Amino acid sequence: MNWVIFIKTKPTTKLINTSFSAFTVKDINRVLEIEHLAYDSPWSETQFVDSLNNPQILASLILEGEQILGYGIVLRAIDSADLLNICIHPDRQQQGLGIQLFNHLTQQLKILSVDTIFIEVRMSNESALLFYQKLGFRSIGNRKKYYSNLEDAKILRLQIS
Ligand SMILES: CC(C)(COP(=O)(O)OP(=O)(O)OC[C@H]1O[C@@H](n2cnc3c(N)ncnc32)[C@H](O)[C@@H]1OP(=O)(O)O)[C@@H](O)C(=O)NCCC(=O)NCCS
Repeated sequence: MNWVIFIKTKPTTKLINTSFSAFTVKDINRVLEIEHLAYDSPWSETQFVDSLNNPQILASLILEGEQILGYGIVLRAIDSADLLNICIHPDRQQQGLGIQLFNHLTQQLKILSVDTIFIEVRMSNESALLFYQKLGFRSIGNRKKYYSNLEDAKILRLQIS
């Protein structure tokens, strides 16, 4: 008898030649397009402008050539930081780009002596919760009715040193 064995493997993702750059006010229009595609409750232009003008903010873009694939915004305190926004274009999610971007931000935070990162996530944002779980974040509690639609937030914490 002949046997045929099928092995189910994850689809291979093409190698993407990415680079990183600082996210500045001149990038906001292009970022807003992604923000509106990726979120039901997107940040406004004013929220981006206010964040980027804050000297405690660290903000990076992940690029393929000139094309913005995603962005991350972190607010630094003394030895901790809050990840305020991390987003990958919906067409380019689940290709490892979010991890690349997060690692890039983390490297910069370590240089600035930050040792802990916090994030609040909507309870309904399952893909983000799985993403943070993969990165090693641990839940440290919930914030009741944290969002404008009264949805609860999960507070996550990651030690990076
Ligand atoms: C959350 C987000 C940034 C993740 O970025 P990404 O590039 O898609 O994630 P990656 O490809 O780097 O995934 C890394 C890991 O996260 C987990 N993950 C990410 N997206 C997932 C999904 N949709 N379903 C299941 N697991 C997922 C997996 O464990 C994955 O590892 P694997 O590929 O080995 O299985 C992206 O989904 C996004 O931009 N979402 C919209 C904006 C958002 O909700 N941001 C977070 C706000 S708190």
